[in-house]
Amino acid sequence: MDSQAERILDEVRKYHHDVQDARGFVPGVTEIWPSGAVLDEDDRVALVSAALDMRIAAGKLSRRFERDFARRLGMRKAHLANSGSSANLLAVAALTSPRLEDRRLRPGDEVITVAAGFPTTVNPIAQNGLVPVFVDVDLATYNTTADRVAAAIGPSTRAIMIAHALGNPFEAAEIAELAEQHELLFIEDNCDAVGSTYGGRLTGTFGDMSTVSFYPAHHLTMGEGGCVLTSNLALARIVESMRDWGRDCWCEPGESDTCRKRFGYQMGTLPEGYDHKYIFSHVGYNLKSTDLQAALGLSQLAKLDMFCAARRRNWRRLREGLDGLPWLVLPEPTPNSDPSWFGFVLTVDPDAPFGRAALVDFLEARRIGTRRLFAGNLTRHPAYIDREHRVSGDLANCDVVTDHTFWVGVYPGLTDEMIDYVIASIAEFVETHR
Ligand SMILES: Cc1ncc(COP(=O)(O)O)c(C=O)c1O
Repeated sequence: MDSQAERILDEVRKYHHDVQDARGFVPGVTEIWPSGAVLDEDDRVALVSAALDMRIAAGKLSRRFERDFARRLGMRKAHLANSGSSANLLAVAALTSPRLEDRRLRPGDEVITVAAGFPTTVNPIAQNGLVPVFVDVDLATYNTTADRVAAAIGPSTRAIMIAHALGNPFEAAEIAELAEQHELLFIEDNCDAVGSTYGGRLTGTFGDMSTVSFYPAHHLTMGEGGCVLTSNLALARIVESMRDWGRDCWCEPGESDTCRKRFGYQMGTLPEGYDHKYIFSHVGYNLKSTDLQAALGLSQLAKLDMFCAARRRNWRRLREGLDGLPWLVLPEPTPNSDPSWFGFVLTVDPDAPFGRAALVDFLEARRIGTRRLFAGNLTRHPAYIDREHRVSGDLANCDVVTDHTFWVGVYPGLTDEMIDYVIASIAEFVETHR
């Protein structure tokens, strides 16, 4: 880096310190966000440095992030995308690739998923002409179980796609085993659970593929961004092709002929020697991200352990502080797991003398941010009512989630003081309404 750039980056460090909000926490005045990005001086410098280099498209920083992140999660390949939703779309679309031959998913095939969660875990199933089969969740873990998944498997079932709920792992080993027994493809939506383990093994490493989001609410952020991970090199190649317009060629932008056969292919009914750069083996998208995002991702990745530790610490403080309060169902980690939590989820007992609305209003009035367990029961939303789907068993707990569940934050930007204020506020509300 030349000395002029060094000087600019020194100024950026100074600027970072100058613009820090030095005001302390004022209970009831300072906003306690449920989630948010934690960005330090190094993050700001990483972004500006990438901007000085005009790294406006995907290139060497994206490839470095993909390599480092895959290594970090113990997977062979990671492919960046522009969001977690795009990563989910790519993962499901990849399963429809003709390259998978007999294993490929075809329109009308069923994919087992969970009804209470984030919509873009489910949307790619419908967007690819597949049929979601919804299963219910347990209260307290907010995950489904291997038993429910097993009961949902029917003659048309070909795949499973489930998210680890708010960082709490589902029974990934048992569900992976089911997938193997029944020859089902298995995608883990790991968007909310980076760093969580089940049976001592990282979530996101059990399925054929897994996905991650780098939106600011998540464990690592790039602003917007996402990633598909797999150790199956054939699937990785399909994901890359689907992400990059569906092309067959794998040269980076600005590169040509890395395969040394650019004009030596004959594919489809194209003439012999048609330029490989413009041969399309999939009906693809452009879901790429940029090196500006990857620069921030690399700087965030260095802090992943610290972020996960803070999330665990904040969750434990809330769990201990709220223990024993009546009328609240407190969250439980799935047995055999160590969650890297996304949020602290609470359900107001349906028989409580107060409802969720009153508690949430009370907290929001104190500037304590709350969120829903995303969509609650997705099948009740206007977008899904007329969509083809199947429900296995019933969705009674998903309905409880819709009516009685919410969550508060555990993200690393929260201080002990803030968490203690959240605990005291919830306790005060319950004590005065019991
Ligand atoms: C479980 C889950 N999957 C997918 C997504 C989508 O990620 P993105 O917002 O990056 O598109 C989210 C978003 O929060 C999520 O919670």
